[in-house]
Amino acid sequence: MPEPPLVAAKPFLMEQDYGAYTPEQHAVWAELVRRRWAQIEEWACREYLEGYGILGLMEDRCPRLREIADRLEPRSGWRTQAVTGFMPHEAFFEMLAARRFPTTTWLRDRTSLDYTPQPDMFHDVFGHVPMHTHKVFGDFVQYYAAVCARVDDHDILERLGRLYWFTVEFGLIRQDGRIKFYGSGVISSQSEGNNVIEGKCSVRDFDLEEVLNTPVKVDELQKVLFAIESFDQIYEAMQRAERKLLGNKVA
Ligand SMILES: [Fe+2]
Repeated sequence: MPEPPLVAAKPFLMEQDYGAYTPEQHAVWAELVRRRWAQIEEWACREYLEGYGILGLMEDRCPRLREIADRLEPRSGWRTQAVTGFMPHEAFFEMLAARRFPTTTWLRDRTSLDYTPQPDMFHDVFGHVPMHTHKVFGDFVQYYAAVCARVDDHDILERLGRLYWFTVEFGLIRQDGRIKFYGSGVISSQSEGNNVIEGKCSVRDFDLEEVLNTPVKVDELQKVLFAIESFDQIYEAMQRAERKLLGNKVA
């Protein structure tokens, strides 16, 4: 069945100009992967590690988004789609609801290996995309976006934004009696990963009420994060969030 065309997101879609990446940029990608891998191998959840293997990323070259999309789509129906950068939320939700992950194509330089204020290709591809191979996680993200796309109340969107932040961006999960990472903000950042491992961040059991009531901190290391027991838990939490926050407010 043909997919409905993207409307709000259309002005932001672009092709990745793979040939434009310089040898230095490929070297920065390789350095970023090398720096993160020792921790990720031990601390990423098993679904992330399986997903990373499925994507077949080259460790010494920047990723080709089309190749990733071709590997991802048969697996989970998700695709990576290059975009020009920051998108308004209507466009962002439209893409996620269509299982298209908007992916930046710019890469941080060597002077900011640890932190970029705006997400770059390392955050998006290394951090987020491996989880899109996982059916339940992918269904959660699509469902989340489909609900958000129907909301125009700023306060409700902000509260739902907290659910995204504490799952997709900074989610933790308990596996084999330990805390593991699945959120891209922890997966892709050495300092956020260290922050969790060194116990400088309080890790609480995932609780929807508490998540919806916890404001997001974007410009400092996280002080509190939430650990789920399974990915079914966040899908079910989204069903409850939809009922709780939206009730009969939307069609
Ligand atoms: Fe992100």
